[in-house]
Order: sequence, then C-alpha cells, then structure tokens
Amino acid sequence: MVKKISVIFSILCALVLFFSCAKQENKDLSPVERIKSSGKIILGTSADYPPYEFHALIDGKDTIVGFDVAIAKEIAKDLGVELEIKDMSFDGLLAALVSGNVDMVIAGMTPDEERRQSVDFSDIYYSAIHGAVIRKADMDKYGKDPASLADKMIGAQKGAIQVNIAKQQIKNVPEAELDNNHSQIKELGTLPDLIMEVKNNKIEAVIAELPVAEAYVKANPDLAVAEYSFTDDAGGSSVAVKKNSPDLVEAINKTIARLQAEDKISEFVGEANMLADAQ
Ligand code: ARG
Repeated sequence: MVKKISVIFSILCALVLFFSCAKQENKDLSPVERIKSSGKIILGTSADYPPYEFHALIDGKDTIVGFDVAIAKEIAKDLGVELEIKDMSFDGLLAALVSGNVDMVIAGMTPDEERRQSVDFSDIYYSAIHGAVIRKADMDKYGKDPASLADKMIGAQKGAIQVNIAKQQIKNVPEAELDNNHSQIKELGTLPDLIMEVKNNKIEAVIAELPVAEAYVKANPDLAVAEYSFTDDAGGSSVAVKKNSPDLVEAINKTIARLQAEDKISEFVGEANMLADAQ
C-alpha cells in the first residue's frame, strides 16, 4: 500500500515537473520566437485615422487599410507569419500591448517620452506635422492664427499627443498644469466623433496629424484645414512593442529600413490616400 502511494506520488511529481518545465520553456521564448511559434503577429490599431489606418470597402467587404497596415503586412511577411488586426480605441492601445493582447501597435503613434516609460518603440517610419480642421466658413475667423482659438472650444483625440499640443500651443497651459483637464478642450475617443462636433458647431477646431486633417477635409466639403500648423518634439510615428523586446524591435527596424531603402513607405502613403479619396 505504502509502496503504491509512493509510486503514484512519484508519477505526480514527475508530471508536475514536466508541465512546469514546458511552461517555463514557453516563457523563455523571446518575443520573436514566440510570434514565430504561434504563426501570427497581432497588430493593435485604431482605424479612424486616414491615411494611416481606416475602414474601407474592398470588394464589398469592410476592411482595415492604410499605410500603417501595409507596413504591418511587410513586418509579418519578413517574420514569416500571418497578420491579425485588432481594431480598438486609440487610448486603449498601450494597455493592450502591456497586457499582451496585441504584439505591436501601429497607429500613427508618436514615440514620446511618457510612452517610452511603458513600451519600446521602433525607429520613426513616417514624419508629419499637425493641422487644425475647422469649418470652411470660419476660414477668416479661425484659419489664419492659432491665437484665434485661445478661448474657444477645440477637440483632440483622447490619449493622443494632440491634447497636449492644444494645451501648450493654443491654450498656453503651463508645464505644471498639463495633467489637468482643460474645460475648452474636448477629448473624444475617435476622430469621426470629433469631426462631427466641428460640423455641428459644438467645437471650432480639431487638431490631428496634417495628412489626417487633409483626408477628413477632402471627405467633407464643408470643412477646411487652417493655414497654420503645429509640431511636436518626437516628430513622427513609430511601431510600439512591449517593453524589453529587443529582438522584435530589431526585426521591425530591419523591415522599416528595407521599406525606406525601396522607397515603399511613400508608395504606401500614396496608395492609402487614393483609397481614402475613393471612400
Ligand atoms: N500621433 C498622435 C499620438 O501618437 C495621434 C495618433 C492617433 N492615431 C490614431 N490611429 N487615431 O498621440
């Protein structure tokens, strides 16, 4: 009896050891090894930002397209895996990365210092300045000088750097107060909702990357892009990955360098703009 129990006990121990080792092995995989062994890389994006990423009807089917998606496909191709896309609101993207819900974020995301505390970034793959979308009829009133918006309601995407651009470069909020909400800055989750607020005279302007401002104005003849623009310190968009993923950052940078050498990124931007125009 005692012998039987001890045999069962040994078998149990061996099993526990076996499974904990198997689990350990999986945990020891580097990010690239893990992605390759799963056969797919999961992209997190916020498809409200033409020409970066947006929804389009392709052969009658709602599809997420844009130059960020084209770059993501190249990254997947170079890794030899499938691309899966998860569309979510912009302010949820970093949490999705940290929790492991997605493997990389490509969403016109600016690699600013604050974000660098929680995630790693690739090299910059595209640079843009920022513009203001206003109503065409207000061109003289709000289109010439950002100071004309100093005491007006304006909008920016929740969680995006445009909130701080609006605070610092339009509202003149001092550094120490940047974390406080501003009563004249409306922060909404998606660009279409913000654009709607301008069209309905609820706010006077929306700040977004200039190519995005131009895409929304093309689709809405009652809107216009203001004549002035804004810049930020980080100066472009990067791919974000979970912190401490050196081999994944390296693989992504390699793909970006290849695409730049082949002049593919500007080609993707052109294609995305044409697709956005056709919508
Ligand atoms: N570049 C800005 C940022 O990183 C805005 C990006 C918004 N992207 C989007 N897909 N909605 O905060």
